[in-house]
Amino acid sequence: MRFLIAFNLLIVSVICKNILLTNDDGFAATNIRAAYRELKKAGHNVLLVASVSQRSGWAGKFDIPSTKDLPTDGEFDYVTKGSPSWGHEANDSNIWYFNGTPASCVAFGLKYVIPEFLSKNSSNTSFDKVDLVVSGPNEGTNLSPGYFTISGTIGAAVAATYRGLPAIAFSGSNSNNSFFKDSLNEDPSAPSNIYAKKVTEIVNTLFEQQGTADRVLPVGTGLNINFPPVGSQSTKNCTDPKWVFSRIAGASSFGPDIKYDKSSGMVEETDTVFNALNICYNGDCSLPSEASILGNTTSCQSSISPFSVDFGANLHLTGQIKYALSKVF
Ligand SMILES: *[C@@H]1O[C@H](CO)[C@@H](O)[C@H](O)[C@H]1NC(C)=O
Ligand SMILES: *[C@@H]1O[C@H](CO)[C@@H](O)[C@H](O)[C@H]1NC(C)=O
Ligand SMILES: *[C@@H]1O[C@H](CO)[C@@H](O)[C@H](O)[C@H]1NC(C)=O
Ligand SMILES: *[C@@H]1O[C@H](CO)[C@@H](O)[C@H](O)[C@H]1NC(C)=O
Ligand SMILES: *[C@@H]1O[C@H](CO)[C@@H](O)[C@H](O)[C@H]1NC(C)=O
Ligand SMILES: *[C@@H]1O[C@H](CO)[C@@H](O)[C@H](O)[C@H]1NC(C)=O
Repeated sequence: MRFLIAFNLLIVSVICKNILLTNDDGFAATNIRAAYRELKKAGHNVLLVASVSQRSGWAGKFDIPSTKDLPTDGEFDYVTKGSPSWGHEANDSNIWYFNGTPASCVAFGLKYVIPEFLSKNSSNTSFDKVDLVVSGPNEGTNLSPGYFTISGTIGAAVAATYRGLPAIAFSGSNSNNSFFKDSLNEDPSAPSNIYAKKVTEIVNTLFEQQGTADRVLPVGTGLNINFPPVGSQSTKNCTDPKWVFSRIAGASSFGPDIKYDKSSGMVEETDTVFNALNICYNGDCSLPSEASILGNTTSCQSSISPFSVDFGANLHLTGQIKYALSKVF
């Protein structure tokens, strides 16, 4: 839907799309509530479906409730033990929690909330089609291929992408796990508010470019977007970070690793830069890695990296691998 609102002599084009919003820090996290507010303010139909609990680090795991009621309290005790395993805000039937992982929240939105609730309920048939899935903004960055196997924010975006939906994972540098009732405000220097505006900027840019085309990104593709520290968390007055087109792998790309501490006899998690992540087989090898963009602490930049769910090796590599296995074929 696209319609024009004219006031005075100014003509503003409002694009109204259906957005499924999720995250891995829980449906009551400040970042997702700020994004919900800004995307709605921009005129979109937004359906928020996210986990009732903190599911950071659950990647694409597909967990669904095994009981009708919650066996434990949700994040921030906002939804308490014994409540139904899914439900919506009392005053907003477009904000849902689900006792699942980010990837299963996407599926729950698509297979229950939209067909069984929104479209059967009252006049709300606006969600006949999901135009875009937005995941995040996460509390903490999600950089490098290593994080594709860890981040629940990315897990939800990948799960949406392989369902044929355009999807974007957004991650912020504000890692405090904050409850919207404590922290959601209108302060223009609050990182969640700045991130929410930047999310809306990207979403609207894509939709404007889409025009009358069928979809906003090619089938099987999505974006991984990371924000630097901003506003009250920035030490260099970064309030409007510049967009840099990047790639997921490349120089400085890292993944989670183990560090063994001989004195304590314990292991710790650490990030290691692995050479294999600096290899470029696909895409535009001249682009900087997202890790190098966010790792540049003197700049005020966000990275935008495209990804595809075609995990296959390219033709040349496939040939080499097939040759190595030729005796079995
Ligand atoms: C229908 O959905 C729109 C868009 O999300 C929402 O603003 C509105 O409140 C909903 N209407 C009803 C009756 O639930
Ligand atoms: C619904 O209630 C929450 C607080 O629980 C409040 O922040 C929000 O503004 C309310 N929304 C509406 C549409 O009244
Ligand atoms: C429609 O919404 C009302 C009020 O939120 C709810 O009680 C009812 O169960 C919903 N209908 C369906 C089919 O879910
Ligand atoms: C972090 O989040 C908690 C929980 O919402 C909140 O009480 C606290 O004020 C937040 N701290 C900062 C520095 O934002
Ligand atoms: C920070 O940036 C804003 C917007 O660019 C500007 O208005 C403000 O004066 C800057 N503040 C400082 C301390 O540099
Ligand atoms: C960091 O970013 C600044 C500003 O964009 C740039 O001038 C500088 O070369 C970058 N530093 C590194 C190490 O890439």
